Amino acid sequence: MTNTAAPAAAKGLEGVIAANTRLSDVRGDIGQLIYCGYDINELAGKVSYEEVVHLLHHNHLPNVKELGDLKATLVGFRELPQGVIDIVTTFPKEAAPMHAIRTAISALGCFDTTAEDDSQHAQRRKALRLIAQIPVVTAFFHRHRQGLELVRPDSQLGEAANFLWMINGEKPSKEMEETMDMCYVLHADHGMNASTFSARVTIATLSDMYSAITTAIGTLKGPLHGGANEGVIKMLQEIGSLANVDAWVEDALAQKKKIMGIGHRVYKVLDPRAPHLKRMAQILSNQLGDPKWIQMSERIAELMFKKKGLSANVDFYSATVYYSLGIPTDLFTPIFAIARTSGWTAHVLDQLADNRLIRPQSVYTGPVGLKVVPISQR
Ligand code: ACO
Repeated sequence: MTNTAAPAAAKGLEGVIAANTRLSDVRGDIGQLIYCGYDINELAGKVSYEEVVHLLHHNHLPNVKELGDLKATLVGFRELPQGVIDIVTTFPKEAAPMHAIRTAISALGCFDTTAEDDSQHAQRRKALRLIAQIPVVTAFFHRHRQGLELVRPDSQLGEAANFLWMINGEKPSKEMEETMDMCYVLHADHGMNASTFSARVTIATLSDMYSAITTAIGTLKGPLHGGANEGVIKMLQEIGSLANVDAWVEDALAQKKKIMGIGHRVYKVLDPRAPHLKRMAQILSNQLGDPKWIQMSERIAELMFKKKGLSANVDFYSATVYYSLGIPTDLFTPIFAIARTSGWTAHVLDQLADNRLIRPQSVYTGPVGLKVVPISQR
């Protein structure tokens, strides 16, 4: 007999409010994203990623001195323990980068003697170390898997430029740096998204910062969350040309397939990050002299809006931006993880500031009252 009196589960926890936070707000009905009081449209193009890190971690935009101090701290934290470099450079070259990064971030906890120190000072230090080290881990693995020499971080470069330098071994152009920086700003935080929620669940048990960020990376990896940006490029490659888009979309919808980069749990109108990314994708595609990808993307978005009333999300155009910057497809989700580490760590600190174990319930739908039959008679 099942328990028919039990309340229904909110599938996917839709509509469930899991925390109070001053960090960010996603207003799905009007397509607005706010970081600590600032509309994303106010921040994008006006502030750097490092300024957003400061905003999320201190609740206000930095002045010149505060920004200088933060940048110097991040630069100082980029050096990885040799043990972690050894681990990263023994991973199989064909491993998916998200597996490599998740494992390396977990390993960083083994080499930090303060990993279990839960004082506020130590937690803040660990948060900044992770923000500084996740791009280094990613770049080292990327160089290792190509059999190339590791590129040391450059203390003269900011976060976005340093990452491009470390993966390519070439200084990025001003334009590449600005594009990447803007992508970081747009991906830094996003309310109670799946990976942030998982980080908060982990830290709410009073586990540790490394465990929380490792959890978040594992959650981001899936194609329904951060992994969608890789799926977008695979989809565009499969479609092949603008002429094939209409038939491909028709067929995918008939087969009830999900179109990657389209739709959102919270946004019922356009994701406010998408137009910024679309604009960058248009500029870059035209500069490359290969507008095919953006033209195909625009047609897919148009069809999906017409047929299903669904709009493009952050992953849709960021895929074309990264592709146009010459970044390999399987680094798209890692780049999302790099930027989102600022938000994840801020949420971990936010959770700790007013913690309670996160422990929802489930509706049991199985039978009750069964009797054990001796094993010889089953
Ligand atoms: N392609 C086709 N149909 C879609 C899509 C899509 N991308 N997204 C939603 N739908 C349809 C569903 O088929 C369903 O239709 P139905 O009611 O006729 O069955 C309806 O819209 C509701 O879909 P759900 O999957 O229940 O919506 P949910 O809120 O659970 O999912 C999600 C949101 C996961 C983002 C979904 O839109 C999706 O899978 N999109 C593609 C993956 C993606 O781009 N993920 C990145 C999200 S943004 C981020 O995490 C960074």
